Order: sequence, then C-alpha cells, then structure tokens
Amino acid sequence: TPSVGLIGWRGMVGSVLMQRMVSEGDLAHINPVFFSTSAAGKPAPEFDGASPESATLQDAYDVDALSKLPIIVTMQGGDYTKEVYPKLRAAGWQGIWIDAASALRMADESIIVLDPINRDVIDAGLAAGVKEFVGGNCTVSCMLMGLGGLFKQDLVEWGTAMTYQAASGGGARHMRELLNQFGHLGSAVETELADPASAILEIDRRVLQAQRGELDASQFGVPLAGSLIPWIDADLGNGMSKEERKGSDETNKILGRGDSRAPGVQRRGDSIPFESLCVRIGALRSHSQALTLKLREDLPVSEIEQIISEGSAWAKVVPNEKEATMEQLTPVAATGELTIPVGRIRKLEMGPAYISAFTIGDQLLWGAAEPLRRMLLIAIG
Ligand code: HSE
Repeated sequence: TPSVGLIGWRGMVGSVLMQRMVSEGDLAHINPVFFSTSAAGKPAPEFDGASPESATLQDAYDVDALSKLPIIVTMQGGDYTKEVYPKLRAAGWQGIWIDAASALRMADESIIVLDPINRDVIDAGLAAGVKEFVGGNCTVSCMLMGLGGLFKQDLVEWGTAMTYQAASGGGARHMRELLNQFGHLGSAVETELADPASAILEIDRRVLQAQRGELDASQFGVPLAGSLIPWIDADLGNGMSKEERKGSDETNKILGRGDSRAPGVQRRGDSIPFESLCVRIGALRSHSQALTLKLREDLPVSEIEQIISEGSAWAKVVPNEKEATMEQLTPVAATGELTIPVGRIRKLEMGPAYISAFTIGDQLLWGAAEPLRRMLLIAIG
C-alpha cells in the first residue's frame, strides 16, 4: 500500500476530493499522510476507511518529510506549488506529483489529467517517466467531459465557448459574497415585494441603488448578484482574459495536439483553434457554456448525439426540447452530479457542418476533484 501525501484537504476543492475518495473507498488503497501549512503537530483528520500513517499533521513545508513519499496530491493552490515543488525536485525527489493548481499545467514536463478523455496521453506519459500530473481548468475539463466524443474522433475543426461560470470558480469566499449580495438585495425590497400592488420600477430603482452603493463586492470587485462580469482571471493585455487563453491551450494539451506536450507523448494532430468569452454569473458551483463548433464533416444530428453520448460514460445528451432542457440542463440540475448534460444540439444556418451545443458541469467535481482522484488510482496501479 503506497504512502500518499495529502495537502490542502481542508479547503473547498480538497474537501470535495476527500468526500469523493471516502464514497468510492479509495482510502483503502493508500496510506494517507496528512500535511498542513498551518497546523503541523495537531491531530490528523479522521476519514472513513482511512488509516493514516501518522496520527499527527505533518508540516507541508518540510521538504524532507515530503520527499519520503512516492506520491503527493496537493489541492493547496498555486502559491504552495510554486514554493514547494521546485525545492522537492531540487532535493532529488523522484515521486509523482498530482496537483489541482494551474501553476504547472502548461509546463513542458507536465500532463493535464482527464483520463476519460486522455487516458492514452496519461499512459504514454507514465511510460516515458512523466511525474507531474495536473488537473485541468474547470471550464475546459467540463467541456471535454461533455463533448469529448467529437474531439476524440477528430471531428472538430474549430470551436468557440461562451461561458457562464459559477461563483465557486473564484473560491469559497466568492460563493459567500454572492449569497450575501442576494440576501442584501432581497432585504432591501422586502416590504415592497410583500405587497403585490407596489410599483415594480420603484423596486428596481431600490435594487440598483443597493447594487451601485451598498453591496460588499470585495472578492469579485463589482457586484455579481443581479448582474454578471464578462471577465475572469487576469487581463493578458491582448484583449483576452487568462481564463480564455486556458480554454485554447489546455484543450489542445489535454488532447495531445499542437506543440505543448510532455516528453514521450506523441503529437496527436495540429492544435484546434478554440476561442472563448468567459463570463461570471450568479450560479453557485456549476459552470455552463454555449458552444459553436465547426465540424470537419456534415453529420446528421442523431449521429452527432450518439458520438457525444459515447464520448464518455458521463456525457448525457439532453433532447433539444424546451421541457427536457429546463429540467435537465441547468446549474441546479447538474450540481452535485458527475453526469455532464449536453443539450441544445442543432445545426446552424452558417452551414451543414456548424452546430451549437450547451453543456454544464459541477465545477468542483469533474472541474477539480474527480480527475485528481482518478489519476491517483492510475498512479498506484
Ligand atoms: N478559473 C476558474 C474560474 C476556476 O474562475 O471559474 C478554476 O479552474
């Protein structure tokens, strides 16, 4: 039974990962060693099915302790990775590093893991001695879990994603901020709302007044409740946000296309032009996206649907009808589920090879925790 160092298990992504490991019984296959950046020496946490190697928390900055482990899984975040990972390698550590943060995603020597879509890339990397395995950007992973079938069959000539991203992508504090904003807006007009005869424009004016001057927006920077923010992550200075850049870079790297591939991973074709416009909306933890795809072939919609639903065991085609869409294709329906609904599939007027699609994924499951726990199982064989 391999010893596995776990870092960042207490945070939001880490908590979801631990829940998933407990419910799948993964902890029986490893000897977990729990680390902490702030509470070394305190008792290790108790998880069902886990028999921790040490009863106390180890220091997450202790390179000696970390370097004794064959596998480390971190959900601590990019700053931790940037600080500790180079020191570990400099100390000669040869173990496998599995990371939720984006810091090493586009590094030459890393592989972005999404095994239902790129198990071949992961296996090629493992065989060639790759030791860095990083979870992908949540929007990219959820998109590929839904539409991977089309990409796997090399049917996508180019694509665009218009995203509708949930507050959880920013972090736990962002979710709280959004809910506090909703609460504030609701209370601001509580009396007027209780009276069906009150003037709606007066309610609207009062809400806008609160949005423009009363809401705590310290996390997002501007109010999100009752609004949206069409910019996610850093401004790259070329008209693109960092989130939009990731859409293209990571999609191609996951698929093993284009030039950014880990050593030993064969090139699987030219990179696919994939553009995004990423928007933060007031959903809690499921990211949605509207896609336009130019296919390489004119296929009937029924065949496209079949390719999508066979693309992974989790993709589920939602009929392009009002009732099914409203019931199955919303963040409320998708949250907490591993199933990735894909709907609104139809041919577009631009030509027979152009289709639209809409897909949603729980940003903390396939978007973060799930690819990591599955990579851990692959790594321990
Ligand atoms: N960058 C994503 C977002 C989350 O802000 O929604 C992490 O991949």
